Amino acid sequence: MSNRRVLVNLRGLLTPDPARTWAVDRILDAALAMEGGRVVWMGRAVDLPSAWTDVPKVDGGGAWATPGFVDPHTHLLFGGDRSGEFNRRLQGVSYKHIASEGGGIRETVRATRSASVDELVASGESRLRAFRERGVVHLECKTGYGLELEAESRLTAAYGELKRRGWSLDVTLLPAHDLAPEFSGNAEANARAVADEWLPELVRRHPGVARFCDVFVETGVFTVEQGRHIFDAGLRLGLTPRVHADELTWTGGAELAAELGAASADHLMFCSEAGMKAMAATDVTPVLLPGTTLFLGMRDWAPARKMIGAGCRVALASDFNPGSCPCMDPLTILRLGCLQLRMTFEEAFTAMTFHAARSLRHIDLGHLHTGARAEVLLWDIEEVLELVYWVGEPFRPRFLPA
Ligand code: NIG
Ligand code: FE
Repeated sequence: MSNRRVLVNLRGLLTPDPARTWAVDRILDAALAMEGGRVVWMGRAVDLPSAWTDVPKVDGGGAWATPGFVDPHTHLLFGGDRSGEFNRRLQGVSYKHIASEGGGIRETVRATRSASVDELVASGESRLRAFRERGVVHLECKTGYGLELEAESRLTAAYGELKRRGWSLDVTLLPAHDLAPEFSGNAEANARAVADEWLPELVRRHPGVARFCDVFVETGVFTVEQGRHIFDAGLRLGLTPRVHADELTWTGGAELAAELGAASADHLMFCSEAGMKAMAATDVTPVLLPGTTLFLGMRDWAPARKMIGAGCRVALASDFNPGSCPCMDPLTILRLGCLQLRMTFEEAFTAMTFHAARSLRHIDLGHLHTGARAEVLLWDIEEVLELVYWVGEPFRPRFLPA
């Protein structure tokens, strides 16, 4: 293959090292050799192997190079928005109260059910462009605002179309995102419909689109037992579990994720210490979503430090959705990871790159070591820590020329 090139003139390069847990390499005056869209070598420019000296160069313009961000938890596709509800929340009405009146998720479900596949694809693509401009090169995206078979099927079809258009996505089926209005609060019957009818039918209609399945395990939504039933059905269909766990109350969601060998347990503001230990022992990635805590005005920041102490490889994500975190900005999440979850810059950066990718079972994303996809961001700053330090600056990365 002749598409070999070397990225030179970099002030520095910052990347997690996939071979050493939590280790981050910081290389000044760096260079990066690529072939076929993959990293073949990286290190100090003065150490560039002689075989690469005559290869075409790409001028980094004195930037810092980092791997692109990976967002391992988004609800990318939905109809409408919830700015009206947001204003009511500012006037003091709680998220739970709005949901109890039939607003909240239900409002988005109504708007999503009336959206066509084409409309979903169009809004999805404009959101994906916004994520990409800000440095997100791969995302996990959930269904879940259909809550019935046909609408969930349209969401899955729209994700299939976005993948065909070349967007780098992993799709998660989440028809158990909330209790569907048609079941009038009968969670047991709702869980059976998801497990026995909807998931098999979604996989049959859209082969190869989804890799994961998810359930909102929460007081008043689905119990651990109902979650287990749905996840078992997903596993039989080849879908790996990811769990909305311990978000508003402790329910044992992290423990369930560990028992099932889930790829991730997400949210976890109310995770128990036993849940943390169980996740560490079974290599379940805790995916923390500090944007949601911020946007819901809660004070219960997920216990990232305790999880790291327990041996968990924590990841961070946006939870992008219209109700609890309409945020497409990875730098906001990175900053919250540092400022509210008390992660170091290197930890938060690893959590948004390599650990995020790992939670999606990709080991060639989220770092720039040999074998990685050459998804490189170029930042025109003097020191990479500035990404967090200049806390309100809307830095945008440059990308390598195609
Ligand atoms: O991840 N936990 C459930 N779902 C979303 C919120 C959904 C909504 O309010 O629309 C979340 O926070
Ligand atoms: Fe979520």
